Amino acid sequence: MKDFQLIVNFKTYENATGTNALELAKIHQKVAEETGVGIAIAVQAVDLRHIAQEVGIPVLAQHFDFVKDGVHTGHVTAQALKESGAYGTLLNHAERKIELDDIEESVDLARQLGLFTIVCADTPYTGKAVAALNPHMVAVEPPELIGGDVSVCSANPQILMDAVAMIENAKVVIGAGIKSKEDVAHAIKHGASAVLVASGVIRSMHPEETLKELAQGVIEGQKGAVEHTL
Ligand code: G3P
Repeated sequence: MKDFQLIVNFKTYENATGTNALELAKIHQKVAEETGVGIAIAVQAVDLRHIAQEVGIPVLAQHFDFVKDGVHTGHVTAQALKESGAYGTLLNHAERKIELDDIEESVDLARQLGLFTIVCADTPYTGKAVAALNPHMVAVEPPELIGGDVSVCSANPQILMDAVAMIENAKVVIGAGIKSKEDVAHAIKHGASAVLVASGVIRSMHPEETLKELAQGVIEGQKGAVEHTL
């Protein structure tokens, strides 16, 4: 299993779509190689194949539809993602929520196909509930902070503390409004396995520099985490 501490969601930003997405993906790969920090990216389904063919970092989907094969026009299946080279997928993102029953079946199906799953939750409590469905990671993101300039770490550090304390059988990811090295270091130091970021990187004028900063945050957070446990 690949290890990553930064997950960057390309969402539907124009500069992270199509050929722009490929260029951005290559920047992510470069920063991962230069810093040694694991970086995964979540791209639109139509961009998956051409990006997964070109980069070695984990390429995730942002969602899939839990439908059987056959008569479901307009849906994106887990099988199609796997075939396109997806390493895994986000599920239940605040911008693409799915029913609890569908989360369970989707996680099961993804596992059968060998897809890595990151299930999103709006609070530590829902994070604990979805962790019981056996995803690889649970990403806690307060929806009201997504896309904003106040990070989850500065708005309410207790959210991460609660998530780490409550979510036992999946790795904990934290996200929403994270844009600085300090936020990343704080999250990693206090028990997050990874951070989930979008606008901080995608809307940056200098994504490569921003990514390097965030990767440095991972490195500093890991050192802090080691000191903390000694
Ligand atoms: O999936 C990541 C996301 O929802 C957080 O977005 O823009 O607040 O980093 P952002």
